[in-house]
Amino acid sequence: MEEEKVQWTSHLSFILATVGSAVGLGNIWRFPYIMGKNGGAVFLLTYLFIIAFICIIPLCCELFIGKKYKTDTIQAIKSVNSKFTWVGWLCIITVILIPCFYFVVGGWILNYIWIFLTNNLPANFSGYFNSYSSQIFMPVFLTILFLIMTAAFPFRGVNKGIEKANNIMMPLFTLMLIGLAIYALFQPGAKDGLMFMFKPDFTQFNKTMILTALGQALFTLSIGMGTILTYGSYMKDKTNIIKSGYTLIFCDTLIALIAGIMIFPIVFTFNVEPSAGAALAFISLPEMFSKLPFSSIYGLIFFTLLFFASITSGISMMETGILSIIKNFNITRKRATIILTVIIGLISIPSTLSFGILKDFTLFNKTIFDLLDYSTSNILLPFNTLLICLLSGWCIKSLWKEILGENIFGYIFNILLKFVVPIILILVLVTGL
Ligand code: PFF
Repeated sequence: MEEEKVQWTSHLSFILATVGSAVGLGNIWRFPYIMGKNGGAVFLLTYLFIIAFICIIPLCCELFIGKKYKTDTIQAIKSVNSKFTWVGWLCIITVILIPCFYFVVGGWILNYIWIFLTNNLPANFSGYFNSYSSQIFMPVFLTILFLIMTAAFPFRGVNKGIEKANNIMMPLFTLMLIGLAIYALFQPGAKDGLMFMFKPDFTQFNKTMILTALGQALFTLSIGMGTILTYGSYMKDKTNIIKSGYTLIFCDTLIALIAGIMIFPIVFTFNVEPSAGAALAFISLPEMFSKLPFSSIYGLIFFTLLFFASITSGISMMETGILSIIKNFNITRKRATIILTVIIGLISIPSTLSFGILKDFTLFNKTIFDLLDYSTSNILLPFNTLLICLLSGWCIKSLWKEILGENIFGYIFNILLKFVVPIILILVLVTGL
């Protein structure tokens, strides 16, 4: 089935969609914490160096391949070199596995929106979260609800669904984020919060910190699973790849920093040990929100913001899989969406139950949820990114010339692409394993 020849209606829509994909839970609940824990400003500088000189390379390759072949990940990689079609499949497997744990969190977010909306706040969030996430019916129901809500956008098509969603949600998200960050800056813990995030600590500069920064950068930029390639395939021909890549990196990092400014002043106002992940978003922060004036409004804005961040990322994961199903199995967009929704739904159920009845069901010492998270973020993402770089560097001879032209920047790009970035990724993989 020939999917309609779609394009983003404007450059801004393309940027909002890619930023929507990149900005997600990774920016809000992970980046600020690992920055604070890994040397503050020193981490930030290392991170900036890594995204500006290393991650920009696979990012541009994915955009380039998408723009050139204007098709899904599998067919595009097949066009680059048909012996490596399996790399495309590997990306699609990755992008199907990620929502199976990411959407579980989406379900928790829906539940918290509900309790803040109805002002039905528990006295103790730690006990509440642990008992809620270990239930059977409600968490599974809300994971599936989040999945269906996400799938509804690509179901309607690229322009009518995905583009509209990002054009509305991303500006709202940014407004809410800036609003909460300004409010946080007026809290008594603002100075300590900012110190935690930014204070340079040179003793932290070591191999582990560099690897942490690189892993975070790949996940947050949605590189290594065909998402950027897919969104790039809807790009207009005249779009400049390198400029778009840097715009995405700039927005993603800025938002992660503002997220930290929104979170840590509050954490330090209440003298709580800084944390990340589920413990931060679903236990310590809500606990503190409930002590602030207008607590339910504050909490409601925070979880709505988290909802926008995660659903726009989710939409991009779904779209990557959907376009591949359309192109490789010759079926309509609506059918493809339903098939993918069912597959993700089925895997998400045991993943959701990993916090309750399947808590003791482990493989390689990890619950299903943790295994999905670990295998995708630590193994598949760097591995796929490595293969995409090697394919782009060695099979598309003109790539660097077409992206930057025959000048010093082009030569540097070519060397980074062919040698430096692959070697770094191999190191990441070897140490990660
Ligand atoms: N970049 C998103 C985040 O930082 O939360 C996660 C993500 C989005 C991963 C899209 C994969 C993807 F295809």
